[in-house]
Amino acid sequence: MKTAITELFGIQHPIIQGGMHFVGFAELAAAVSNAGGLGIITGLTQKTPELLAKEIARCRDMTDNPFGVNLTFLPSFTAPPYPEYIAAIREGGVKAVETAGRSPEQYMPALKAARIKVIHKCTSVRHSLKAEKIGCDAVSVDGFECGGHPGEDDIPNMILLPRAADELNIPFVASGGMADARSLVAALSMGAAGMNMGTRFIATKEAPVHPNVKKALVEASELDTVLVMRALRNTERVLKNKGVDQLLEIEREKGASLKIHDIHEQVAGVYPKVMIDGEMDAGAWSCGMVAGLINDIPTVKELINRIMSEAEQIIRQRLTGFLDGTFETKPARAVA
Ligand SMILES: Cc1cc2nc3c(=O)[nH]c(=O)nc-3n(C[C@H](O)[C@H](O)[C@H](O)COP(=O)(O)O)c2cc1C
Repeated sequence: MKTAITELFGIQHPIIQGGMHFVGFAELAAAVSNAGGLGIITGLTQKTPELLAKEIARCRDMTDNPFGVNLTFLPSFTAPPYPEYIAAIREGGVKAVETAGRSPEQYMPALKAARIKVIHKCTSVRHSLKAEKIGCDAVSVDGFECGGHPGEDDIPNMILLPRAADELNIPFVASGGMADARSLVAALSMGAAGMNMGTRFIATKEAPVHPNVKKALVEASELDTVLVMRALRNTERVLKNKGVDQLLEIEREKGASLKIHDIHEQVAGVYPKVMIDGEMDAGAWSCGMVAGLINDIPTVKELINRIMSEAEQIIRQRLTGFLDGTFETKPARAVA
């Protein structure tokens, strides 16, 4: 399958693995790139630019295919040394960067000078248009369903994707709630040129996380995520657990007066506890509603091959069947 996204990034399949804190290490990024998608190393999980340079080199040892790095621009008092992180990306020969969080505007000249393709993750049409204006090559349109930070507008992808298609000139991928061939074909129908998956890629053999995390995703239903930190306008979709129950209790008590330090214990330093130690009740970690569509732990290659072959089947049989009158009455179920 060829789309504007496969051509932009020089990849075989229009599938991107979004940056994920303490998940997006070289092992996962290389597995996705080896399977023909675009794997992404999460830049800030590496504590220093030097460590990121090493992670990029490790990934390069594991794949000859293109891969990218995620740079998340967080509102913080002590900003990470972004120019040095960008230097590590440039010097590592990485040609794709997924930016997220705040606008990457001030870093665009450095990224463009290094001929790096930039895909910015946006949760609204207005931010997508801003990304287009400042020279981003593509956007990842992240709907309300997504794991992580869905923004504050609460617009699901059934509305957000066609709205983006109506307004944008640059290509975009659908992000949030994407899990299988049905997601990909639906995303393409709504104007996207591919899809970005986060949560689904955690439940794969190569994802370098504790088995408890993968098990939790297989067991979770679409009802098992919840939004936290709304009062801070830093809303995050996370998997319910005992730490999150405590967090919600504090949020209920504090109401609009909630401050970040009130929930420090439930949000700070949680990722290594969950992803490395498998402490599933440690607190808030990002997880999408798409957990309800995850029923197995395949290899990345099995997952991507399955998505691509089922997508072809949906397009050639199910969709054309509606046109030529040979349609099936059964709903389109995922094979696995
Ligand atoms: C555990 C986890 C950690 C994440 N960490 C980051 C991150 O550090 N930076 C970022 O831009 N997005 C992050 N995301 C968001 C993903 O890149 C992606 O946009 C999102 O997961 C898409 O929604 P989905 O989970 O429904 O596929 C994270 C998502 C998850 C599930």
